[in-house]
Amino acid sequence: MKGVILAAGKGTRLYPVTKVVPKPLLPIANKMTLGYAFDQLKDCGISEVAVVVGENEAAMREALGDGSAFGLSLSFVRQPDPKGLAHAVGFAKDFVAGDDFVLYLGDAIYSEPLAPFVQQFRDRGCANLNLVKAVEDPRRFGVANVEGDRIIKLVEKPAEPESNLAMAGMYVFGPQIWDVLPDLQPSARGEYEITDAIQTLVDRGHEVVAGVYTGDWFDTGTLPSFLETSRFLTQNGQLVALDASVKAEMGEHVVVGAGATVECGRLVDSVVLPGAHVRVDGDVVGCLLGGEVTSPIGLDSAIMYGDLS
Ligand code: G1P
Repeated sequence: MKGVILAAGKGTRLYPVTKVVPKPLLPIANKMTLGYAFDQLKDCGISEVAVVVGENEAAMREALGDGSAFGLSLSFVRQPDPKGLAHAVGFAKDFVAGDDFVLYLGDAIYSEPLAPFVQQFRDRGCANLNLVKAVEDPRRFGVANVEGDRIIKLVEKPAEPESNLAMAGMYVFGPQIWDVLPDLQPSARGEYEITDAIQTLVDRGHEVVAGVYTGDWFDTGTLPSFLETSRFLTQNGQLVALDASVKAEMGEHVVVGAGATVECGRLVDSVVLPGAHVRVDGDVVGCLLGGEVTSPIGLDSAIMYGDLS
């Protein structure tokens, strides 16, 4: 079993921070976002992992190296253009080399172990298992119709979902997937959808199974979701690196990274990245700050990286 992590996205919804630090490398609760994926894959007994990268390739290679610092053997695979998840997976074919593999979306963080789902895939001997989670509004996800534990139909972002089971960002595939990818057509949003690839497996009579996940599931792609994940991972408390210097009235849900300095009024529900220097004449509330941030007024829901903002 191998691991493939999709981490080629530009992270535009967290600009300008992600112009400087690729989103997969952003620390969340003072641990690199991809570190959560690495730990999950290791817990599944996986040691060989490919990271699919894009324009962030140089920074990713430099930060992650050969993976030995994380107890993994890492390879890098380049997706030349962002044309969807199924397109990204295709570039990992040589790395996977006919093995089974876990596909993990790099900005997903789960509160519970995923290893039982890899075991479920093995026990079932199926072509593919997909993590699904019951959600209140499934319209912004791939949505699965399930009979027993079998997925019988999948629709990407349906306007009128037929079930509340969202595709939750972790997939286990056998080699059958490689026969399907060349036949895919771009979707209405112009992407090669992993959902369409899995539907093709179903259409061709392969056994496709749902692994129902009931823990918490976060994606870190926007400021609200990044802060929500940070709150969860810090158990709603404060996490200040030992060598950080903070002169501020500390509120709830605050993370300050290593080597950072902060001078402001109140610091609430915010993440200050490692090495940042923040001087704000007012309160900092709901912010993600890095680099040299100075402001004559308080900051509210800001994403700033020094003077790039
Ligand atoms: C992708 C998948 C979707 C899945 C979602 C999980 O959507 O296409 O099926 O439910 O990830 O986060 P995207 O984030 O590309 O819109």
